[in-house]
Amino acid sequence: MNMKIRVMLLLDEGHTRDSARIILSMAEGVILGGETDDIVQYYETAKDFKPDVTIVGEEVKGRDGFSLSKDIIDHDPLQSVIFVASRLNVETYKNALYTGIREVLKAPLHPQELKDAVDRAYGARAKVGQSVFNNGFANGTNNIQEPVEEIQEDVGKARIISVFSIKGGVGKTTISTNLSAALAEEGKKTALLDFDIYSGDVSLAMDVIPKRRAADLSNDINRLDMDLLESYMVKHSSGVMVFTAPFNIEHADFIKADHIEKILSILKQEYDFIVVDCPSYFYDIAMLALRNSDTILLVATMDILSLKSIKNTISVLEDVEVDRAKMTLVLNKYISRVGLTPSDIEATLSLPITSVIPLDSQSVLSSMNQGVPFVTGMKRSKVAKSLQSLAKGILAKAGGGE
Ligand SMILES: Nc1ncnc2c1ncn2[C@@H]1O[C@H](COP(=O)(O)OP(=O)(O)O)[C@@H](O)[C@H]1O
Ligand SMILES: [Mg+2]
Repeated sequence: MNMKIRVMLLLDEGHTRDSARIILSMAEGVILGGETDDIVQYYETAKDFKPDVTIVGEEVKGRDGFSLSKDIIDHDPLQSVIFVASRLNVETYKNALYTGIREVLKAPLHPQELKDAVDRAYGARAKVGQSVFNNGFANGTNNIQEPVEEIQEDVGKARIISVFSIKGGVGKTTISTNLSAALAEEGKKTALLDFDIYSGDVSLAMDVIPKRRAADLSNDINRLDMDLLESYMVKHSSGVMVFTAPFNIEHADFIKADHIEKILSILKQEYDFIVVDCPSYFYDIAMLALRNSDTILLVATMDILSLKSIKNTISVLEDVEVDRAKMTLVLNKYISRVGLTPSDIEATLSLPITSVIPLDSQSVLSSMNQGVPFVTGMKRSKVAKSLQSLAKGILAKAGGGE
């Protein structure tokens, strides 16, 4: 392609602006149209230059960079903004996502990172005309759901393990994050997918921040391959590659069943395990994960309501021809002497319990609050041991437990 990417800088004078200018003036395929710290002057130049990408600082002449970015995007929804922040934290990403910023970079700028960000931002912009992005939020025209297909058998080696319950708060996120960390610690190439896309707790529980917006994946879906997909994931210190949920609800609508299908089939090629943190309800994404799972861990707690919901879940799954042999129970927040025993539960639900995880609010809460899975941060705790043995059981079943 011989079209150049047209870039402008809206940055305070100083080191970041100098390095952006130097990096981009040496980058092939980029034309720098102007630099300023004055928004009025920016618009003057932009009117003729029509930038594809603008790089905006966190604060420009005392004005908040997020509101400047929002202004630019509102003016020209086809415009891609790259935001340069001095610190990256969840707040920065949340603001960026709300504003419609495409990429967030940390100062000082790294030449390759900046060039890659410009390329990606431009790529997303080039497709925006046909996509639902930017203009598509409000009009709700893109809600047609694709039929849920089953991924063809034998396309890859990974085993898909879904953690499910139609009751919230039973421990799905706790189990999926710790299970995936335990599998990674056993040396298995493991992905953790947060499909609870409307609440998405995995990024907090694992303390990871995605570099790219899951919602932008819809622009890349046709050319998605392992490298591109992994650029949307974050590597956790345990080795787990994490696909986090979008930070806000509008963006969650960009995650479609056919995207999920593609994500699973790509990861299946190279990963050993794909652990899915499911939402607490049956909708297409959950169904797709469940139907394609090798193992479904149904999370139960020691109360009658939980058991009733699992009984319903089993019958819904059987209705859609999910094999009962794939389902097993994980009994979480276990305490003895509450009028129910694990064997009562197995008998009531006619499913085996593969793991009993004790109630241990202190360990679980502090691990979640620190964003460190207890299987890595508190290896000796009983909860960690129970998750490690769940992981070993899964490994053994997959034929890799030696
Ligand atoms: N074994 C456990 N012992 C004590 N508290 C737990 C245990 N498992 C989960 N919790 C707590 O229960 C709450 C819900 O857990 P979470 O994993 O977020 O559930 P879900 O993902 O199903 O909504 C959290 O506050 C978590 O700390
Ligand atoms: Mg959860």
